[in-house]
Amino acid sequence: MIKHALLPASEFTARRAKLFAKLPASSLLVVRSGHEQTRSNDTEYHFCPDKNFFYLCGFQEPEAMLLLLKGDTEQTILCCREKDPLQEIWHGKRVGPGAAVSEYGVDDAIPLIDGDGAIVDYLSQVKHLFVCFYDNELMTMAPEWLSQVAGERRVGKKPASNISDAAPLIQELRLIKSNAELKIMRQANELSGKAHQRAMLAAADGKFEYQIEAELLHEFAVNGARFAAYNSIVAGGDNANILHYTDNNEQLNDGELLLIDAGGELAGYAADITRTFPVSGEFTVPQKAIYQLVLDSQLAAIEAIKPGQTLSALNDIVCKVLTEGLVSLGILKGDVEELVQNKACKQYFIHGLGHWLGLDVHDVGDYQSNEKRQQLRAFEPGMVMTIEPGLYIPMDADVDEKWRGIGIRIEDNIAVTEHGYENLTVNAPKTIDDIERLMAERLN
Ligand code: GLY
Ligand code: MN
Ligand code: MN
Repeated sequence: MIKHALLPASEFTARRAKLFAKLPASSLLVVRSGHEQTRSNDTEYHFCPDKNFFYLCGFQEPEAMLLLLKGDTEQTILCCREKDPLQEIWHGKRVGPGAAVSEYGVDDAIPLIDGDGAIVDYLSQVKHLFVCFYDNELMTMAPEWLSQVAGERRVGKKPASNISDAAPLIQELRLIKSNAELKIMRQANELSGKAHQRAMLAAADGKFEYQIEAELLHEFAVNGARFAAYNSIVAGGDNANILHYTDNNEQLNDGELLLIDAGGELAGYAADITRTFPVSGEFTVPQKAIYQLVLDSQLAAIEAIKPGQTLSALNDIVCKVLTEGLVSLGILKGDVEELVQNKACKQYFIHGLGHWLGLDVHDVGDYQSNEKRQQLRAFEPGMVMTIEPGLYIPMDADVDEKWRGIGIRIEDNIAVTEHGYENLTVNAPKTIDDIERLMAERLN
């Protein structure tokens, strides 16, 4: 089912070529897929490879290492677990070094057990070692490799003279998506939009939040996204005011809103969509007012997306719309200009406007933030981000009672194009009319 969405080996070869071009002459770069994580006793979480490793080769098994050797020539070597009939009967098939070269397009593949020896050997031939500094285990192994080479100095071997962080180099590449990546992200968004539709149709007074979560997971999986890209947030009523609410264990009530922040992961790529809608299928008057305000602010931000734009400038656009709206609803009081200047809306819009999106839901890539935490990086074609304004008015807020317990976020996924933007989130109902029209179908 998901085969159509998998990237060809040539895509990974092209990524490695770009990374080789960034490495100084005489370098070795080592990146690892990671270990399986125990859930309890002898059961594990489903394995998710380190996304920097995955980005460079697409290999999905634990314990693997990828070596990029830039010497007289450029060579990519995959170190992976050997075939093992007994282990494979119990735990599943392994690719093995024999098939890895043809299946993953690397230059060579060796058994994991020979990996350390190969690294030590290569380190006596190059000047620079690159590893991801967040990989604590590798950071303790690297000096050991270097001291092993140093131990052989008397036979003429010299260790690499410095260790540098590989992560920023890989992550800058990840920030700009290729056409093949955008194609997958469109699919991830489409199937996630279908899941949001299904959730709207399934919502009903008395149902538990986790029952709606089950509908989302079902729709993800039948469309090829076996897993959610992150734990789904299914937050009825005041639970929406807990930003990363994932307990999902309370009952829904007519008259309240349901905020769902959920996206499937397809071929490693995340969708990250939020919709907020009434459990009853019809917004109340106060819910409508806040919802339309959040939507207006989101549309204003999206409309301004183009190369050269910044998240910081989009934040200003959103804050202006929200502040004016909150003043006209009587929730904020005072001079609009001054309130905008003082970012007064931040009392109710309590998180950032958006983030990069890709293999990770909060994807990698430098935001070029200044000391005021303004994100000043100019957009370029191929960047993908979320735009997710929200307003959160908890039950204990000091406002008119009619607003209390309303928490609304609306989140779409946007790609920057040559002249503007493409909204990847095309089929998750978003206007008040579209939501109410779809939910009315529950009665038929
Ligand atoms: N799903 C988490 C977020 O929107 O950032
Ligand atoms: Mn998000
Ligand atoms: Mn989200």
